[in-house]
Amino acid sequence: MSREFVADLEYNIVLIGFMGAGKSTVSSYLNKTYGMEVVEMDEMIARKEGKSIPEIFEQFGEPYFRNQETVLLRELQSQKNLVISCGGGVAMRKENVPLMKQNGCVVLLTATPETVLERVKEDENRPILQGRKNIQGITELLEHRRESYESVADIQIATDGKSVKEICDELMKRLQDEWEKKHV
Ligand code: S3P
Repeated sequence: MSREFVADLEYNIVLIGFMGAGKSTVSSYLNKTYGMEVVEMDEMIARKEGKSIPEIFEQFGEPYFRNQETVLLRELQSQKNLVISCGGGVAMRKENVPLMKQNGCVVLLTATPETVLERVKEDENRPILQGRKNIQGITELLEHRRESYESVADIQIATDGKSVKEICDELMKRLQDEWEKKHV
């Protein structure tokens, strides 16, 4: 897959999926391998607020954080060729959907609850997982979110047992297939 193809993308790659699905890992690989600019939504919001995500949740509450996600998505509307790594809750809010799809190809990364737990078990920065860091808690939240995730996605990629290179190769191939469908 060439860097030229990537540089020609007329839209953003919008990564969605549950916590621990691999959005940040995939973003950083796409940055290193293809030189794509990455927007980590959580990082950007934390930087703007001068606080960590747990501090924002604790001091201002979840609705405030969700509004900040929508504000940031709006700000990114005019850009292209970015990898936008969304927080796991972004796809759950109806008004975010057109903001993600208008100028983006939405890529859903999936993982089983077992894989998610393995990837997040040491992490203390995800308030939503507080008291839920077990297979049952993760399964319930994942099932609650699954339909919304799937209905927003243009492309879906399972990440279980795959290396980041395998995931990104698959992603780039799918993007190129979509591109060719539209340009033949
Ligand atoms: C959240 C996921 C987190 C972060 C916040 C809420 C969620 O991002 O935005 O803790 O509701 O799923 P990651 O998916 O990058 O962990």
